[in-house]
Amino acid sequence: MLRHFFLFLSHRRALRRWMEHSPRAVALTSRFIAGREIEDAIRVTRQLNQAGLAATLDYLGESVTTLAEAAASRDVYLRLLEAIHAEGLNAGLNANVSLKLTQLGLDVSEAACRENVAAIARRVGELASFVRVDMESSAYTARTLALVSDLHETYPHIGTVLQSYLYRTAGDAEELLQRHIQVRLCKGAYDEPADVAFQKKSDVDANYAKLAQRLLLAGEHPALATHDEPVLREALRFAEAQGIAKDRFEIQMLYGIRRDLQTEHASQGYRVRVYVPFGGAWYPYFMRRLGERPANVWFLVRHLLRS
Ligand code: FDA
Repeated sequence: MLRHFFLFLSHRRALRRWMEHSPRAVALTSRFIAGREIEDAIRVTRQLNQAGLAATLDYLGESVTTLAEAAASRDVYLRLLEAIHAEGLNAGLNANVSLKLTQLGLDVSEAACRENVAAIARRVGELASFVRVDMESSAYTARTLALVSDLHETYPHIGTVLQSYLYRTAGDAEELLQRHIQVRLCKGAYDEPADVAFQKKSDVDANYAKLAQRLLLAGEHPALATHDEPVLREALRFAEAQGIAKDRFEIQMLYGIRRDLQTEHASQGYRVRVYVPFGGAWYPYFMRRLGERPANVWFLVRHLLRS
């Protein structure tokens, strides 16, 4: 219920304008978002690295409506890659990038979007980095998988994300396994109807467990992205029982969420990567995070009452 409400709010434009321009925005969002600029993301990445955590950097933005905005997003990613490289963050606990296709123009022109992502993937290859194409709502699943599969033939340093709440995901996983495309497995963050997605948490979790096992056994460096302790521990127990070495996969979590679990697993020798969002267009991302945990609502209310 709460989740649906926040996902509804995540599409409200007037509220978005007001919140993104609020003088209290930084105080409100700093728990989940690194800051507005590339430098903020780099600073947070350095802090994470010092704690033994890797990072994937996400320039916030989605659903752009012009090619100019899409090109501007592409250029931020290209500058971000240079900054990661110049700061030496690409070695050791390597930092890479995550992006969304609707931020690179998918709703405006699929061809232009492809060119934008190809330009990023090309530079990623030259810098021996990695780019992850995030998965958006189910309206984009097929197009995202098609575009990533196509680009992967030329640019092997590109991977994507699968969501365990979708019925179709087991089939998609097999396709990506065949193509040796790296998968990040998450539960899914959008409001999906019952004809495409499981509605009950227990079903989403059970599918996550099944998919995690399949990816651990056959996947190309899969990423287990979840803060769900029982779900994660079950997957890790499976990996251990199967003799799958800790460096054959990674755990991923979002910046500011379950920091205790992040450092605990890193100290046990697992590879843990933190998803670090930055930029001014933080509202939809922030609202999705609020909807995932009732306690986060009090966090929001406290801040709004103070403003
Ligand atoms: P679940 O929502 O069941 O939560 C389990 C527990 O985790 C909660 O009880 C709470 O303790 C903690 N928790 C979860 N969310 C929290 C929050 N916001 N604040 C505080 N505690 C919280 N989705 C998508 O559709 N496409 C994508 O590309 C990605 N990419 C992505 C990358 C990474 C690295 C992560 C970790 C997640 C994503 N997601 C995503 C989001 C994902 O689909 C999902 O919405 C969230 O991770 C929340 O689901 P959990 O697996 O954490 O479980």
